[in-house]
Amino acid sequence: MKRTIYAGNVSVEHVGENVTIKGWVQKIRNHGGVLFVDVRDREGVVQTVWPDFFNSIHADLLVAIKPEEVVEISGSVRRRPEESVNHQMKTGEVEILGSDIIRISSTLPLPFEISREIQVKESLRMKYRYLDLRRESLSKNIFFRSKISKLVRDFFHRNGFIEVETPLIVKYTPGGARNFLIPSRLFTGKFFALAESPQIYKQLLMIANFDKYFQLSKCFRDEDPRSDRQIEFTQIDVEMSFIDELEVMRLIEDLFYVLWKEILNIELVQPYKILTYHEAICRYGTDKPDLRFGLEIEDLTSIFQHSTFQYLREASFVGGIICRKASKISRKYLQGYDEFIKSQGGKGVKVFKLDEEEKDPEVFKVLKTKYYFQPGDLLLVMGGEKFHSLELLGLLRKNIIEVENIIPDKEFELVWVVDFPLFELNNEGNITSKHHPFTSPLVEDIPLFSTNPLMMRARSYDIVVNGVELGGGSIRIISRDIQQEVFKTLGLSDKDIEEKFGFLLKALSFGAPPHGGIALGFDRLVAILLGEESIREVIAFPKMTSTYDPLTDAPSEVEYQQLKNLHIKVEE
Ligand code: AMO
Repeated sequence: MKRTIYAGNVSVEHVGENVTIKGWVQKIRNHGGVLFVDVRDREGVVQTVWPDFFNSIHADLLVAIKPEEVVEISGSVRRRPEESVNHQMKTGEVEILGSDIIRISSTLPLPFEISREIQVKESLRMKYRYLDLRRESLSKNIFFRSKISKLVRDFFHRNGFIEVETPLIVKYTPGGARNFLIPSRLFTGKFFALAESPQIYKQLLMIANFDKYFQLSKCFRDEDPRSDRQIEFTQIDVEMSFIDELEVMRLIEDLFYVLWKEILNIELVQPYKILTYHEAICRYGTDKPDLRFGLEIEDLTSIFQHSTFQYLREASFVGGIICRKASKISRKYLQGYDEFIKSQGGKGVKVFKLDEEEKDPEVFKVLKTKYYFQPGDLLLVMGGEKFHSLELLGLLRKNIIEVENIIPDKEFELVWVVDFPLFELNNEGNITSKHHPFTSPLVEDIPLFSTNPLMMRARSYDIVVNGVELGGGSIRIISRDIQQEVFKTLGLSDKDIEEKFGFLLKALSFGAPPHGGIALGFDRLVAILLGEESIREVIAFPKMTSTYDPLTDAPSEVEYQQLKNLHIKVEE
């Protein structure tokens, strides 16, 4: 028989109709000779009922069926008796009085229960992802993801953008994330890379006069995954010509307005706050500040010049966080944090309370007048090199929020962080781009190329939501000379520049329009909208944090001949 309706869509409007459903057995209950068989399909679950089933022609099958077998059931829809209406269930007012049942497919014993949302080890969930995806909590997320991608595409089309697919198998260019390499079979000893983003192509599309481009694009980066990172992820990638920073920012705010409204029925207020990178670091100790909470970092250097504590008095920077009415922070926690800070190379955390005023009278005097320090308040103080101390204080702030279990006033706090440094030093002490090498410097900082490139600021902007970096972008360099200057500052020789980026420099010489754009992490966006901690919960087939895929057992070894064809020898 053909399916006439999804199990999950049966409702009171179908009462009296004969229907045929197909799906998985969710649950079986025998109530004194009456058998209830709940059937699940992608739209939900419906109860089928089999009175006096022992005497029915289907008795053998009804006795034998098991959860997660695939069945076809026909019957007539009826209202449930008042006392058995289930208001928790979408189909809870009705049931199907079964007349026919066929077992379409049987099942092996299951590795975990599917009908109840019990905790299952993640590696097991991943190994049997297709079973995990049958569970409502996860499948719901994948349906939402599809809805969100449609809203995104509709938004960009409405606003005159064209979606263009760009290559995923690309030339390796240095300076960005670590690339996956693809050995070429036809060009011995040469490699392609998997695209870490469509960055260069979207710029070429602007030079090619497309004016407004977007793409939901796969990106690949050989980095260690975390809860908000995968080696393969999706970006909403955007580029526009003849625009400035604010126009890109307003466009993304408009997009978020639609998404938050449609998915959460929340009307986000525009424009969002803007913080410079420097402000963000000084006030929150991070370039991804969570603004749902106060607990800002205070620069207390001048106050502590009068301290009785020598190390604070002599520190080049003293910063602190005031926790109001901080009764939940236990002595044990403070000790733990002190040790943590020391393990990070800090000098530890000093705690100040009002009842210890005599410990440091000069300091307390200012705390009371300038910071309205009250009984019950705590001041956590740290001294040392300025930016290292700020980073540690930023971590401390996050920790306090968790320990104190501080509930934010607002569910979402969105902020732009702008004017990032153009360059930074990597762990080896070499200059690298903070974002990527195509980011334009602020015009007034251009003279610093020759004197102090690390002080140069970029025309860049990151969008941060509740402390998560959701996206980042910039206005791009269109001057061939400035682009070359950036490559030189990054330590590339003229030969390297020509070999790696000659094609881009040439393209910039053929009439490049001013342009800029942004990329949003689509997986992170969906996770935030659905309130999920990890992006793995919004990706149908993610990798484990170790990059391993237990479902297919990848990565795996390959045949000797395949390696030989690629001219590759694996050294033990
Ligand atoms: P960026 O590298 O900042 O910028 O990436 C943009 C956004 O992509 C998301 N993201 C990730 N999501 C999941 N797993 C990952 N491994 C991962 N890496 C990044 C983040 C991030 O904010 N081409 C530039 C954008 C531009 O300048 O227009 C770029 O890729 O949410």
